Amino acid sequence: MDEGDIEGEITEVLFTEEQIHARLAEMAARIEADYEGRDLLIVGILRGAVMVMADLARSFTRHVEMDWMAVSSYGSGTKSSGVVRILKDLDTDISGRHVMIVDEIIDTGLTLSWLTSNLASRNPASVEICTLLRKPEAQQMPVEVKYVGWDIPNEFVVGYGLDYRERYRNLRCVGTLAPHVYS
Ligand code: PRP
Repeated sequence: MDEGDIEGEITEVLFTEEQIHARLAEMAARIEADYEGRDLLIVGILRGAVMVMADLARSFTRHVEMDWMAVSSYGSGTKSSGVVRILKDLDTDISGRHVMIVDEIIDTGLTLSWLTSNLASRNPASVEICTLLRKPEAQQMPVEVKYVGWDIPNEFVVGYGLDYRERYRNLRCVGTLAPHVYS
């Protein structure tokens, strides 16, 4: 593993660890109120959603079940087709269940649009989406998102689950990468 200070490769911190935790706690409180009296299954989309899932789930004061999906776009890594392949499906039968998809970012909206339809076809009681970040300017497919941490400009951001070539996911904050890293 390379030596070096990851934080030194970040030009601007958009959200600190403290801000992220505070925002997730607010969102968890709202979600708990909205789902009062109903069992909730939260579904994290690997790999980026790991951090959000861990902190959101621990902000709940009541029981919540967790499951995971891994998906990938068809073709050469481009998301433009909007067709998604399931690499790891749910272990849970969601028929009759209240399901909330948890992701760290909605960019074009293609992944979440496809996933929502896919899960909705399994006869759940409900399907909602919770995301820490959303880029409204990048959106190509309309996606109804019930819980959003922050809307952000269409910039390349890393940290807190978000990667650049599989790095920076373990950064505690969300920030923009210094140009020398990718130039
Ligand atoms: C990210 C993110 C969403 C998707 C959003 O995952 O976690 O699932 O992209 O992009 P979209 O709105 O343009 O469809 P990514 O494919 O980067 O995989 P990762 O979570 O493993 O990093």
